[in-house]
Amino acid sequence: MCGIIGYTGRMAAQNILLDGLQRLEYRGYDSAGIAFFKENTGHISVRKTAGKVMDLRAICDDENLSVCGIGHSRWATHGGVTNANAHPHKVGDVVLVHNGIIENYHHLIEKYHLMGQLKSETDTEVACAVINANYNGNPEEAIKKAVSELKGSFAFCIMFSNHPGEVYAIRNVSPLVATYAPQNGSFLASDLTAFIEYSNKYFVLPEYHILKMTKDGITLNDLDGKTVEPEYMTVDWDVSTAEKNGYNHFMIKEIHEQPDAFERTVGPRIKDGMPDFSDDNIPDSLFEGIKDITVIACGTAMYAGMVGRTLIQNKIGLPVKVEIASEFRYERPTITKDTLVIVISQSGETIDTLEALRLAKSRTDRTLAVVNVKGSTIARESHYVMYTHAGPEIAVASTKAYTVQVAALYLIGARIGVLSGEIENDAVREFIAKFRQVPEHIKSVLQMEDTIRMYANRMTNAKDTFFIGRALDYTLSMEGALKLKEISYIHAEAYAAGELKHGTIALISEGVPVIAIATQSNVYSKVISNIREVKARGAYVILVSKDQEIEDNTVCDIHIPLPDIDDELTVFESVVVLQILAYYTSVGKDINPDQPRNLAKSVTVE
Ligand code: F6R
Repeated sequence: MCGIIGYTGRMAAQNILLDGLQRLEYRGYDSAGIAFFKENTGHISVRKTAGKVMDLRAICDDENLSVCGIGHSRWATHGGVTNANAHPHKVGDVVLVHNGIIENYHHLIEKYHLMGQLKSETDTEVACAVINANYNGNPEEAIKKAVSELKGSFAFCIMFSNHPGEVYAIRNVSPLVATYAPQNGSFLASDLTAFIEYSNKYFVLPEYHILKMTKDGITLNDLDGKTVEPEYMTVDWDVSTAEKNGYNHFMIKEIHEQPDAFERTVGPRIKDGMPDFSDDNIPDSLFEGIKDITVIACGTAMYAGMVGRTLIQNKIGLPVKVEIASEFRYERPTITKDTLVIVISQSGETIDTLEALRLAKSRTDRTLAVVNVKGSTIARESHYVMYTHAGPEIAVASTKAYTVQVAALYLIGARIGVLSGEIENDAVREFIAKFRQVPEHIKSVLQMEDTIRMYANRMTNAKDTFFIGRALDYTLSMEGALKLKEISYIHAEAYAAGELKHGTIALISEGVPVIAIATQSNVYSKVISNIREVKARGAYVILVSKDQEIEDNTVCDIHIPLPDIDDELTVFESVVVLQILAYYTSVGKDINPDQPRNLAKSVTVE
């Protein structure tokens, strides 16, 4: 949550900061602000406002030639959405922006006698005051002393008024990446999309290290003052990937990117027709002898895990549990040394998932992260990592990341199946051959976009909706319901179709949309019966199935036929239908699907 950025160099900083914040806005869009040194003097100016980056732009000077500054795009945690609570915060000589939460700010207010002196309600201003109180001309010393008193997560980007042209940073848990590009200067940000235009190299700032940036370079010191060489990585996508490229929103662009994302994730991991993770340095010993699997994740990533669970458990007979990371952390874990723990995260920074991973690591040496963002904390802390190659996902609602997470789990399942002898090599080869066809099938579904868009019109006035299915379709319907509610604000509930009659069917009344997914042959007729039950009570049924024609058209109001594919692969088609349906429902309600209210992309608070 919250996006932060810092720049110092020879170029005008204001636009670099504003453009970078625009790219980081997916992380939070309640308020925005920048601070900059006035023409290399010791005077720091602050511009900030509640609202979006475009509102901030409107209050910035056109002629601003400052070459050094910091910026922030906020997702409110402490204190409401007000101008005063917007970052940057300034206390004495110190100006800073912050991503994270300072848990002991009450104690610090007392210790530093700050009561009555603060201008905002934020924990960030308290941190700023603590750094200022410890400052006597030496930025590194002040930062070092202050962070030794802070509890919680933080990424700070800091300027000191009598150090013009210098930007400092430190972090604990919350992400920060940085780079020095000799032609362009020094940059840091929560996410490299903010500065990829200027450098395709970056490094992850190690925790509790102080970064000092000037126009001529960067220095990185640990808290004992020892200089550390940054470990640079190269970005494997370019700036156009982080732009809309003619689409109205990132979400629909990312929906369309799924065939490529799937191929990039799956293609390199197939060798001689079989799943092979040797390029990922994931040894077979990770999977050999496992007794069970625990998948841990949040939100969409967790729903991807639900699909993986159903597939792996049914195909291989291994017990698979899916745990909500925020719950798992406070329960007694049942993990043993023979449990394979798979943590799934697009961002690789979700704090609940990260803490759950840390707990899991205290029980087993077999943790495998399925992560999209290279070098992210979860990727670095798990024993092994399988990167999904979806490219940057900017829309708050996850789409392509889900598809590649499910794809990764299918590959992992296939590899375990081979190693355990539960699946014959020939059967795996046959599966993989069909699996490779998935991108073509997704493309066929994408061609139905205009039709699905029409159907979405029927949803915009709905108050409640239900997504039902059985087996894999049930696990998928959870993701469909989440997608709809988060971007259209329509209440949506996913239900196992057979479970409706045990209570929830009481909510079905005239005209309530029910999105029924019926792609699994072994339960097809049962789902159709369940659909009839809701239809008989007035539901407006949108049926998604592999039938090209529905024999009895009284069963549904709308039918969306899927291209024919094996039952276990239909999720890759159906999810695209549900994503498009949610997207156009949101657009039909005049909501910006890329930035739904109250949400942020990367959830780095508990
Ligand atoms: C919903 C969505 C969220 C994330 C969840 C986990 O569309 O995007 O539910 O899936 O916050 O985020 P990551 O995958 O970054 O750990």
